[in-house]
Amino acid sequence: MNTKNKNIIMILLLSIFVIAIFTGFEAKQYITIKSKQSSIYAKTSEMVNAQTTTIIKNKNGAYNVLGTIIVNKKYGLGENYTYKNNQELFDNATNAYNNMKNAAQKDGIYLNIVSRYRSYDVQEYLYKSYEEKYTNVDIFSAKPGYSEHQTGLAFDLNGEDPRTSVKDKFEFTKEYEWLRNNAYKYGFILRYPKGKSDITGYKFEPWHYRYVGANISYKLREGNATLEEYLNIY
Ligand code: DAL
Ligand code: ZN
Repeated sequence: MNTKNKNIIMILLLSIFVIAIFTGFEAKQYITIKSKQSSIYAKTSEMVNAQTTTIIKNKNGAYNVLGTIIVNKKYGLGENYTYKNNQELFDNATNAYNNMKNAAQKDGIYLNIVSRYRSYDVQEYLYKSYEEKYTNVDIFSAKPGYSEHQTGLAFDLNGEDPRTSVKDKFEFTKEYEWLRNNAYKYGFILRYPKGKSDITGYKFEPWHYRYVGANISYKLREGNATLEEYLNIY
């Protein structure tokens, strides 16, 4: 065999080796991802019936259940946690909100964000100023480190009338009605619904929406469930 032929055979063998490695690698990745998804599906479909739920603090400093970040009176965030800890999720929430806002606008509904990301320090300031004015603060305000706003995934929304901003009467606006009928389509849930204070720990907040992604928002709507009920952590 001359040198030219030897070189051709070497190149052929090398190409086969490279192709085998890549196709094998891709197939392996695909199987892992697929099985991960089906196991999540199997678990979430058991929903409220599950007796034990694993809560893991591994989403860059936030507690999560089956990949969904959970912040409530039991599961808090450290002082240094910011929306940047889960920047990709934060960006997904921004996109979802923009899509929702645009869809609402087409229906003649104008949504405004009153409050979204709040740092630990801002929440501390708010909580302390409420304590100076009100009793029973814990029914409407989270302590610093325990507000969903510290993740940037919570949105306090209002419509056109500034008088309904973060007020109980927002419940009677056309914007609230639109959100009740449509927010889930964009991955948002009404986080503290009426009649669920025992479970969520907070009074009804018609303005506070949480981005959870469309997979979960559809299921919560179907089951008329709060996040705590859905994840079985109450
Ligand atoms: N108002 C909600 C519970 C918060 O302070 O995060
Ligand atoms: Zn809020």
